[in-house]
Amino acid sequence: MLLDDLAEQAEENEPNRREFLAQAGVASLGVATVGTGTVAVGFLSPAVLYEPPKKVSAGTLGDHPEGTVHFSPEYKLYVIHRKRRLYALSAICTHLGCMTRYQRDSREIHCPCHGSRFSLEGEVLNGPAAEPLPRFPIALQEEQLVIDRGREVGPDEALVI
Ligand code: FES
Repeated sequence: MLLDDLAEQAEENEPNRREFLAQAGVASLGVATVGTGTVAVGFLSPAVLYEPPKKVSAGTLGDHPEGTVHFSPEYKLYVIHRKRRLYALSAICTHLGCMTRYQRDSREIHCPCHGSRFSLEGEVLNGPAAEPLPRFPIALQEEQLVIDRGREVGPDEALVI
């Protein structure tokens, strides 16, 4: 093979290399465009936090006879009917946020995490929790009990029946 033949062959290969580099450049530009577009769409779309509704239904008065404590795992609260008063307490422990449990035997609310105990009025009976269980307003609207979990009320607030 002569040197001229080699040079001719190298020239034939040259356009292939150029084409490859051009295609690689277009491909990397495409990847960069898609990446930038994805970030831009994520930035422009609203950062909406889909939370469950604050106002929730707790059924009717008939669902909560005198002396009952109903736990709602969905809404993390208790609906308590005692002494002709109906009220709603958060079931989330005020110490570090564990889910409490109603103890039928002692008629208390206990936290399994660190042993806090609460009365059925939500008062702290035993720490480490320092704050009572939050109480939410409960109202009767068209024969339906509606609890507003977005607002706390005082310890004496209740629906008197
Ligand atoms: S989280 Fe309830 S006692 Fe610690």
